[in-house]
This record gives sequence, structure tokens and C-alpha cells, in this order.
Amino acid sequence: MNTQLLSETANKLFADGKGLLAMDESNPTCNQRFAKLNIPQTVEARRAYRELIITTPSLNENISGVILYDETIRQQTKDGTPFLKVLADARIIPGIKVDTGAKDLAAHPGEKITEGLDGLRDRLKEYFQMGARFAKWRAVLTIGEGIPSRSCLEANAQALARYAALCQEAGLVPIVEPEVLMDGGHTLDRCRAVTEEVLRNVFIQLNCQRVLLEGMILKPNMVLPGLTCAPHQEVKEVGDGEQQYQVRLTDRQPGEEQEIDEVAKVTVKCLWRTVPAAVPGIAFLSGGQSPELASARLSAMNHRFKSQLPWALAFSFARAIQQPALKIWQGQEANVPAAQQALLHRAQCNRAARRGEYTAAMEKA
Ligand code: 13P
Repeated sequence: MNTQLLSETANKLFADGKGLLAMDESNPTCNQRFAKLNIPQTVEARRAYRELIITTPSLNENISGVILYDETIRQQTKDGTPFLKVLADARIIPGIKVDTGAKDLAAHPGEKITEGLDGLRDRLKEYFQMGARFAKWRAVLTIGEGIPSRSCLEANAQALARYAALCQEAGLVPIVEPEVLMDGGHTLDRCRAVTEEVLRNVFIQLNCQRVLLEGMILKPNMVLPGLTCAPHQEVKEVGDGEQQYQVRLTDRQPGEEQEIDEVAKVTVKCLWRTVPAAVPGIAFLSGGQSPELASARLSAMNHRFKSQLPWALAFSFARAIQQPALKIWQGQEANVPAAQQALLHRAQCNRAARRGEYTAAMEKA
């Protein structure tokens, strides 16, 4: 294992206050997002959209690395320049999604296991030769009645660790992404408890598989209440037996300063308890939060806690960076400059969030 290369790559990805842009949607996911906006679901439309992203002027001032998909890493701009050359010229490090998706876990209704280990060693070798220097694998955990189960946690953690070890053997920094989904009516505290358990399992397995912590990146969810948790309230069980009922302690709305602060505090506490200091950086996924909230919450974490953190706290957003640009683009060539402006704006907001300096006023500028 080339430990020097791995830790250099990992550190470069967090250098100068920059972060990552995930543009690794699989073809079905990309097509779904296009369909919602009536954009044709073709190879050419996907290529044109990815060209728009990587040719955004000044993107490299805010973005250190982009995560590509197998189709995208082999594509070229309209004038025939390979995407990988465009990225190399901009000094943006290319990464690659290597899992083959989350499938139903047998005998576990409602739970998923991520696949893609078969043949992975050879695929990683090819991606390294092409120029990729990091990779991504996403595990998906759902919160519900009695889930996630221990067996689902363990199976996904083990797959993540085996993937990470293979990446490091090939010279690629693994992004280890165990995503606890926002779907559901769970409270903030349930998400905290599940995320802690997930991360504990992940680091046990990473150690088991001898993964070099200095040469990896963790990509977790922020700790958030479920999307259908009635207005983001904290609830407390009082009384007992039939008399038991829930009282509302607070009535915080998403986006209120207090709510943002609370998410920041609970998320950082959860990471403190579970992520070893040897990991160079943590890059959050956005998970369906609005772009503004994702920036505000990341900024609050850095603003309040940066001086006390052993790792960098950064971003590896897909939707929270891309969505405004995609809406403006609509598949029309004429909209490319305005869409690129929107993409750059989100990248700038998130770079400010890394310094703890994002403010809502940036949205009006
Ligand atoms: P979102 O930021 O849209 O959650 O995507 C991040 C990602 O890479 C999902 O695997």
C-alpha cells in the first residue's frame, strides 16, 4: 500500500478550504432528475449536463475533487476534450463511484445492502490508470420500526470496509459513505443514536480490514430529524403505562437559528464519539436538505466547533450544489451560463461554510 500517496491525496482534497462535488448519479438516478424537469433522458443530455458542470469557470477555486460515474469518466466535451483532461487542467482531482447500487437485503424487509465487490480489484486498477485518485461507495440505512437491524448494519459496514481496503491497495482514497436516510418520522435523537451505532460498526470493520485511517474520507449524513417528524419538535416521554404521552419541548422550524445550532451541536457530538482523530476529514452528503440549509448547518458546525475538531469538516454534496443549476439549465444550451453561475454560487457558499462564514445574506448578493 502506498501510504504516502493515499494520505497526500486525502489531504489535498481538504486543502485551501475547498470541498467535493458529487456528480456521480447513476444513469437511472440522473434520468429520474431529468424526467422531473422534462429534460430528455439520453446519453447526450447527460454528457452535456456533466460538461456544463466541469467547465464552470472558477469551479476549482472552491472544489478540490469531483466524483464521477463510469459513463462520465469516459466522456468528452463537445469539442472532443476528454473530461479527465478538463479536470486535470483545472487541477480538480477526479474520483469515481464504484458501488453498483443498494439492493434489497434478503430476509430483511425495508433494508438494503450495497453491492459491487465482485471484480472490484480489476475495476479499481483501470480507474487508477485512467487518472482517478479516489473512489466512493454508498451504503444506505433506513430508520423505521425495528430497523436498521444489527445484521443490516454489520453487512453494510463489512462491505464498506472491504471496498476501502481494495481501494487503498489500488492507490485510491476510499470515501466511506454510510448514509442514514432522512425519510421517516423519527426524531433528531433517534437519528443521532442510529448514526452513532452505524459509525461505530463502520470503524470496527475498517480496523478489522486494516484500512489506513489517514488515507480515507468519511462521508456521513448530518444528524437530522426525519422528514415527516412533526415540525421538528423534540419530544419527551412523560408518565407511564396508559398515562404515557409526549410533550413538546420546543417547536423549532427547519432553518431557524436555534434549530441550525442544535443540528450542528448534535452532529458534531455524534462524530466526536465515533470518528477517530486519525481520519483527515469528513465530507457530508446533503441527503435531500435544501441547498441553503445544508450550507447553513455546515457553517454552524465550523463556526462553533472548528478549533476543537481533529478532522476537517467539509462537503461532498450532489443535490445541494447541483439542483439550482439543473433547474435553470432545463436541457437548453442558452441557459448554460446562468446555470454555471448558480453552480458556482453554491460552491462558493459551501466554501464559506467550511470557514464557518456562510450567512443567509450570501443568497441575496
Ligand atoms: P446528496 O448530496 O444529493 O445526498 O448526494 C451525495 C451523494 O454522493 C450520494 O451518494
